[in-house]
Amino acid sequence: MEIYNTVQTLQQRLYQLSRAGEKIGFVPTMGALHEGHLTLILDAMEENDTVVCSIFVNPTQFNDPNDLIKYPRPIEKDIQMLQSVGCQILFLPEVEEIYPKDLVEPEFDLNGLDLPMEGAKRPGHFKGVVRVVYRLLDIVKPDSLYLGQKDFQQYSIIAQMLRQMNSRIRLVRVPIVREIDGLAMSSRNVRLSENGRELAPILYKVLQELEYYVNSQPFPIPKNALALAQELFHKHGIENIDYFEIVDGNTLKELHSFEDSNFAVVCAVIIIDGVRLLDNVILFEK
Ligand code: PAJ
Repeated sequence: MEIYNTVQTLQQRLYQLSRAGEKIGFVPTMGALHEGHLTLILDAMEENDTVVCSIFVNPTQFNDPNDLIKYPRPIEKDIQMLQSVGCQILFLPEVEEIYPKDLVEPEFDLNGLDLPMEGAKRPGHFKGVVRVVYRLLDIVKPDSLYLGQKDFQQYSIIAQMLRQMNSRIRLVRVPIVREIDGLAMSSRNVRLSENGRELAPILYKVLQELEYYVNSQPFPIPKNALALAQELFHKHGIENIDYFEIVDGNTLKELHSFEDSNFAVVCAVIIIDGVRLLDNVILFEK
């Protein structure tokens, strides 16, 4: 695998590849890779000639400075994992490379997509995500960008950014990769205690129950679906629910009636052992 630390050296290589007509797929990450990330790489490899993965722990998207310091950086292991799946290029820049002093950055109108859910719980987070993804896309100039459905709001916001840019980059939403018991893979899962780890799969079970309710009832109502979820969490002793919302998948506005939408998603974060577990299920997409 080729590893580049600077914009200049990466771009020299990418210009060669695009002159040769190669299709470039891009997978941005913050490292601490797991099978979820590798699935994005594998999907990108299937659809492109060359895959660029970036590992950059982006300081501007951390609203809690402690979280930034604590963020795991197992770079040697990450490199091995990328090599094991055959990823061709790793971009591994320092902060100064991504945010040089003379950088000119555009402002985007995110249409309010950054306000609910993660946006409300982590002020400034999505502004930082948009900054870094814009900058990375400007450097890599890929044909396709791969993002995980796991961070559904992030996906929606980047889709909105690309629309505003009139971008020709193809955005691919990769389904959530889960552990055998249904827990969505995340670098944070290792911070769960043994008990917490046993409890954690409840989140996906509740989301699945909701999906079943919505698709099996003749006239499902979001309010009733949420009440059902509340009852199930309570039954399993889960009290710390950060948020649990049924939203329209395009606007991220809360749904009061399923008839108002042709794309409904339930998004949730519960907290176990102080760890925020993020998950979502698409209820229907017509
Ligand atoms: P990170 O949390 O490292 O995630 C990188 C990509 O992997 C994201 O698109 C995320 O949605 C996806 N991903 C993580 N866990 C997944 C899972 N279990 N199944 C499927 N996809 C999964 O998201 C970020 O980094 C950053 O915000 C970034 C976009 C790189 C900007 O800094």
